[in-house]
Amino acid sequence: MTRHLISSADLGRADVEAILETAGSMHDLQRREVKKVPTLRGRTVINFFFEDSTRTRSSFEIAGKWMSADTINLSGKGSSTSKGESLRDTAMTVDAMAVDALVMRHPASGAAHQVAQWVRCSVINAGDGTHEHPTQALLDAYTLRSRLGDLDGKHVAIVGDLTHSRVFRSNVITLKTLGARVTVVAPPTLMPSGIGAWSAADGFATSWELDPVLAGEHEHGPVDAVMMLRVQRERMSGGYFPTAREYTVGYGLTRDRLETLVVRNPEVLVLHPGPMNRGLEIAPEAADSPQSVVLDQVSAGVAVRMAVLYHLLAGDDGAPSGPPSPATLAGATTTNEGAVG
Ligand code: CP
Repeated sequence: MTRHLISSADLGRADVEAILETAGSMHDLQRREVKKVPTLRGRTVINFFFEDSTRTRSSFEIAGKWMSADTINLSGKGSSTSKGESLRDTAMTVDAMAVDALVMRHPASGAAHQVAQWVRCSVINAGDGTHEHPTQALLDAYTLRSRLGDLDGKHVAIVGDLTHSRVFRSNVITLKTLGARVTVVAPPTLMPSGIGAWSAADGFATSWELDPVLAGEHEHGPVDAVMMLRVQRERMSGGYFPTAREYTVGYGLTRDRLETLVVRNPEVLVLHPGPMNRGLEIAPEAADSPQSVVLDQVSAGVAVRMAVLYHLLAGDDGAPSGPPSPATLAGATTTNEGAVG
């Protein structure tokens, strides 16, 4: 694995599988009463968030703390960027404090890549503009594999506001790395330009209509999972669809659509990266249905982010060759003997 995690394309299949395997060990820890282990004792992780977040920021903070790293949160408002300091100066200032990793969210696409050129520490992209969100794709893959097993040949439909979605971009890369087939669905106004070139690649298809995809009548046949994306109204400057009601009628996972889907495949999974616009892209009946794995995704987020920190930071050279052994995860016994209090 590279020193940074900027794009899902940084991870080959062996890297993704190693991270997901480690995440499995971390998820076991997460279910114990005492969760703290000394794996990253002495390491410092800065959560550097210039954009709002609930899931990503808190799960990275929990992940760092459970692994005994010193974890510090910085936001745009509370840092000197609000006094006009440049991103470069802020990043280099933090780096000069000998931190080990910057977990960074920023509204500008490419910001994490740029910061990685300026600093000595590891940079983890926690979402950059409309570009990528690689740890979201990893936690989605973890969630899907927990329910579906090997993703080779599985069919995942990703539906909604693709134009503004970094989650979709990272998911397409990671799902294809793991051998899944992906169909992306959006109205023409929310289908990213240039996506035609992606369609040519094996295992990737696009559709302007949702119902034929859910009916299994599109290129890749029946779906194993449907990932609904948030309509990102805060990033929209123009009218991408006439009304919210029309969007829901065309592209929302409504109660009726879910019922039809479940009749076709009772095992189908419903994912949403959150935060959800209930009643717009997903009906409450779908979000709270037995098919929904939305909270499993949140839970997997902590385990996967622990695994990413482990693979980037653990070991003397910062590059462990495989998943942690029980001895490495000192304290990972059923009694939590040796765990850090
Ligand atoms: N899925 C996701 O990135 O959520 P947050 O914006 O709450 O971190």
